[in-house]
Amino acid sequence: MKDQDLEALLQDLSVEEKVYQLIQYQGANYSDDAVLTGLLDQNHITPHELGMAGSTLCIWGADKLKKIQDAAMAIQPHHIPMLFMLDVIHGHRTVFPCPLALGATFSPELVEECAAVAAREAAAEGIHVTFAPMADLVRDARWGRCMESTGEDPYLNGRMAAAMVRGFQGDDLRNPDHIAACVKHFAGYGAAVAGMDYQNVELSEHTLREYYLPAYQAGIEAGAKMVMTGFHTYNGLPCTGNAWLMRDILRGEMGFDGVLISDYCAVNEMVSHGLCEDLRDAARVAMENGVDIDMEGRSYAAALIGLVEDGTIPMARLDEAVRRVLKLKNALGLFEDPYHGASETQAKAVVRTEEHRALARRAVTQSLVLLKNDDAILPLRPGKIAFIGPYLEDADLRSAWSFSGEAADNRSVRAAVKAQAVRAGWEVRFSQGSTLLDNGTRHALGVYRNDDFLLENQRLCAEAVELARWADTVVLCLGEHRLQTGEAASRVWLRLPEVQQKLFSAVAAENPRIAVLLFSGRPLVLGEMAEQAKAVLACWMPGTEGGDGIVDVLSGSVSPSGKVTMAFPFAEGQEPMCYNGYSTGRPQVPGGPSEYTSRYLDCPNAPRYPFGYGLSYTTFTLSEVSLSAKQMTKKEMITVHAKLENTGTVAGTEVVQLYLQDLVGSRVRPVKALKGFQKVSLQPGERVDVQFTITEEMLRFYTARNRFESEPGVFRVYVGTDSSVEEYLEFRLVEEG
Ligand code: NOJ
Repeated sequence: MKDQDLEALLQDLSVEEKVYQLIQYQGANYSDDAVLTGLLDQNHITPHELGMAGSTLCIWGADKLKKIQDAAMAIQPHHIPMLFMLDVIHGHRTVFPCPLALGATFSPELVEECAAVAAREAAAEGIHVTFAPMADLVRDARWGRCMESTGEDPYLNGRMAAAMVRGFQGDDLRNPDHIAACVKHFAGYGAAVAGMDYQNVELSEHTLREYYLPAYQAGIEAGAKMVMTGFHTYNGLPCTGNAWLMRDILRGEMGFDGVLISDYCAVNEMVSHGLCEDLRDAARVAMENGVDIDMEGRSYAAALIGLVEDGTIPMARLDEAVRRVLKLKNALGLFEDPYHGASETQAKAVVRTEEHRALARRAVTQSLVLLKNDDAILPLRPGKIAFIGPYLEDADLRSAWSFSGEAADNRSVRAAVKAQAVRAGWEVRFSQGSTLLDNGTRHALGVYRNDDFLLENQRLCAEAVELARWADTVVLCLGEHRLQTGEAASRVWLRLPEVQQKLFSAVAAENPRIAVLLFSGRPLVLGEMAEQAKAVLACWMPGTEGGDGIVDVLSGSVSPSGKVTMAFPFAEGQEPMCYNGYSTGRPQVPGGPSEYTSRYLDCPNAPRYPFGYGLSYTTFTLSEVSLSAKQMTKKEMITVHAKLENTGTVAGTEVVQLYLQDLVGSRVRPVKALKGFQKVSLQPGERVDVQFTITEEMLRFYTARNRFESEPGVFRVYVGTDSSVEEYLEFRLVEEG
C-alpha cells in the first residue's frame, strides 16, 4: 500500500477501530482449530473485540492463523489484517541453542543464519513478529533470564543483537521468509536487584548508557521494527511509564520510530507498581509515554476510547501510534497478502528440514565451551565408556523459551551416542544415575514432587556406581532443569541439584576419569566438581539437535571453540560480576599488598572461568603482538598485529579478542573492554597474522560532558584468548596539529 493510501485509511478509521489496532490479546482465546474458547468468557472479551484487535500473541500454525485472520478481517470494518506475534527466541520448530549458548559461539554470522532459519519456519506457520532479540546485558547469574541473553559484554551483545535482527528481518520484510524483530526489554531489565525477576533496577545513568544501552541501540540501528518495554522500575518509574527512557532516550536520542509494545500486562502493572490509580490512569500514562501496543491489553481496552473522546489523549497521539502499527503491517505486505506467504504446504516444506537441523547441530558444536580437560580426557578415546546422568535421555534440551519446538523432537545424548559409538570405537553402557531434581524443588511452573524419591535415587545411584566400576571413562550428563532458568526463575543457589552432586561424589569415588557434560541456562557454581572432574564441557540448553552436536565434540569430529560470555563464579556471593567494571581506588595489584584492597576475605576476586574463556582440543600460541604506531590523532588509525599459531596436533578454532583500557578519563573507565574479536580456524602447525584496526570511534565513552566522545591520553591494548589477559601495549591519542 502506498504511504498516502495508508494515511487515507488511517483517517477513515473510527476511534474504536484505531484503539483496537493498539490492543493485543493472547492466542489462548482460540482453541486448536481456531474456535473461540471459554477463556474468552473468563477474560470478559467478546468475539467482536477479539476480531477488532490489531494483533494476537503466542499462537501459531498456518491453517489456524488463516482462519483467525479471515474471521478478524471480516469483523474489521476496514478489513485490516491482524499481526501474529510469538516468542521465537532461539528457533521455531528447529530449536537452536539458547541465546547464552549462541553468544558463546562468538559468531554473529552463525547467529544471523540461525535467526533467518527461525524466521523462515515461523513465517511459514503464520507468524509476523518475533519478540526477539533480548538485548539485555546480564551480570547476575541468579537472574533466570540470563539464558535469553548473550551475556555480560556490551560490544558482543550489540553484535549479536544486530545479527539476530538482520537474520529475522532480512532485507525486505515483504519476503515471506522473514518476520519483524522486537528488541527487548527496554531498558536495563537484566540488572534486576539481587537477580530477582521483575525487581526494580538500580543503575546510574552513566552505567546504563555505557553498558546497558549499546546492545539495544545496535538492534535498533540494524533496523528492528519493534521495541518492548521492560517490566521493571528504573529511577523510580516503571519503564512502561518512564518518559525519560521512552521519550527522551528511545524516541529522541536513538531516533526509534517503530512500534513500541509493552511487555505482557506491563501497562496494567503500573497499578500494582503504585504509579497509577487504575487501568484508565495506566492507559493514559503508557500512551503519553509513547507505548503503542498494550500487550494482553486490558488497560487500552478498558479506557483508551474514553481517554480520546474526552480529549485526555489527543487524537494526534492516537494517530501516531496507529500509524506505526499500520506501517508495520504494510512493511510486511499484509495488505496485499494477509497470510504473509504462510500455508501448510510451505510449513511442510521448510519446518525442521535436514538443512535446518544440520545448522542447529553445527550451532551446538560451536556453542559448547570446554571449561576443563585434564589429561586430555576429551575427546573420548576408543574403550569402555559409561554414560550416566539425568540429562542422558529424558531431560528436555529446549530451554524454557521454545514454545513451538516439540520435546519429542529432541535428539537425546543417549540416541546420538548410540548412533556414533561404533564409528568412534566406544563400547557404551547407559544409566540414569539420579533424578534431575531434588524432591520439593520449586521451578518456574511449580514444584517437583516424587514419593519414591529416596528409594529411586538409591537404586539409580547404585546402578551408576556399578557402571563406573566397569568403565574406562565416565561421561556424567548433569544439569539444572530447563525451567530453573527463564522468566520468573531466579535462584540464590547456583549449584547442581543435591541429588546430582551426590551422584557425582559416588561415581568419582569409584572412577576418577570423569568428563561432565553440564546443562544449564546460566553459569553455575561448580564447587568440588570443578576440581575433581577431569573435564567439564558446558552444553547450556542446546536445543533439539543437542545430542548429535555434543557427540560430535565428544568424539573429536569437531574441536570445541565456544567461549564463556558470562563469568562462572566460585561462589554465589560474588554475583553480580563482570570483567569490565571500573577500577577501585584500592585495586588488588599482582604482587602488591592485599590488606585494605578491594577483595573478598574468603574467595578470589576473579571468577572461576572469566568472560572469553574456553579451551580447545588443540593448543594455540599468541605472540608478537605489535602496534603500527605509538600514537594516533582522532582521524588516524592504529593496526594491531598478532601471530596466532596452532601448536597442537589437531585442527581447531580460536577466538582472538581485542580489549582496550583508557587509563585516565573525565569519568572512570573500565579496567578492560572488548572492542573486537576474530574467530580463526587453523590446522596443526599453521600460523597466521591476526589484525585489528583501532579507530577513534572505539575510544569513545560517555564523558563528563554527557556525550559520547574520545579524550586524548594513553590507552592500553590487550590481545588475548580470554578477558584475563595481562600483557599489554600502549598508545597515545593526541589532539590534531
Ligand atoms: C513476558 C516476557 O517478559 C517477554 O519477554 C515475552 O516476550 C512476553 N512475555 C510474551 O510472551
